[in-house]
Amino acid sequence: MKKNILKIAAVCAMSALMMSALAGCGATKDKNDETTASAEKLIMATNAEFPPYEYHENDKIVGIDAEVAQAIADKLGMELEIEDMAFDSIIPAVQSGKASIGVAGMTVTEDRLVNVNFSDTYSHGKQVIIVKDDSPIALPDDLKGKKVGVQTSTTGDIYITDDYGDESVERYQKGADAIQALLQDKIDAVVIDSEPAKVFVSENEGLKTLDTPYVEEDYAIALAKDNTELLDKINSALAELKQDGTLDKIINKYITSK
Ligand code: ARG
Repeated sequence: MKKNILKIAAVCAMSALMMSALAGCGATKDKNDETTASAEKLIMATNAEFPPYEYHENDKIVGIDAEVAQAIADKLGMELEIEDMAFDSIIPAVQSGKASIGVAGMTVTEDRLVNVNFSDTYSHGKQVIIVKDDSPIALPDDLKGKKVGVQTSTTGDIYITDDYGDESVERYQKGADAIQALLQDKIDAVVIDSEPAKVFVSENEGLKTLDTPYVEEDYAIALAKDNTELLDKINSALAELKQDGTLDKIINKYITSK
C-alpha cells in the first residue's frame, strides 16, 4: 500500500517536472491553471451502510448515490468528495455547510423540508417489513405491540414511532445491526427501505420481506436552504442525466431484479 503511494508520488513528481519543462519551467500560476488544477469541491455527506445506494467496497464508497453524485460533479466540472457519517449527521452537515449535498437514499419529507431543500427526485423507495421466516407478522397492522428495529432517524424510525409509539422502536446506528438483532430474536421485525432489504435478506438465512410495503417514498438530494444556486445546477444536471439515460443506467447496474 505504502509502496504504491510512493510509486504514484514519484510518477507524479516526474510528470510535474516534465510538464513544467514543457511549459518552460514556469513557476508562476495564472488564474486558469489554478481553476483546472483545483476544481471546486462538491462535498457529499452520506451514510455508507445502505446497499445498493451507498456501501463500502474495498475501502471505497460505491453505489447508486456515489455514481449519481460523480456524474453530477462531472457535469458541473466539480471534484466529488464523499464524507461518510452517521445518518442523522447528514442534514446538520448540509445545514452547516460542512457538506454541500446530502446523498443517502434520503426520502423527501415535510419535516426535513423545514431544514433543507431537496433536489428533484432521482429514485424511489418503499419502507418494507423484514421478519423471520416463521414470524406470525404478516401485515403492517401486525406490528402493533411488537418490537421493531430501525436505523436511527430514518423514515422507518419516524413512521414506526408515529404509528406505534416510542416503546415499539429499537434504534440502531446501521440497518445491518437491526438485522443482526432480528436474527438473534431481540426484536420482532425490521422496517427499512426495500433495496437494502433485498440485500440484507439475500445475505442472511431465515429472513423474508412482507409483500405489503409500509410506505412508498421519493429519494432526493439535500442542500442547505440558502444554496439555491447549487440546487438549480444540480436539478439541471439531473434532468440531463435522466434525459440521456445515464441515471437509468446507473440504477439498473445496481438494481437488477425488477
Ligand atoms: N430513505 C430513508 C430515509 O430517508 C432511509 C435512508 C437511509 N440512508 C442511508 N444512507 N443510511 O430516512
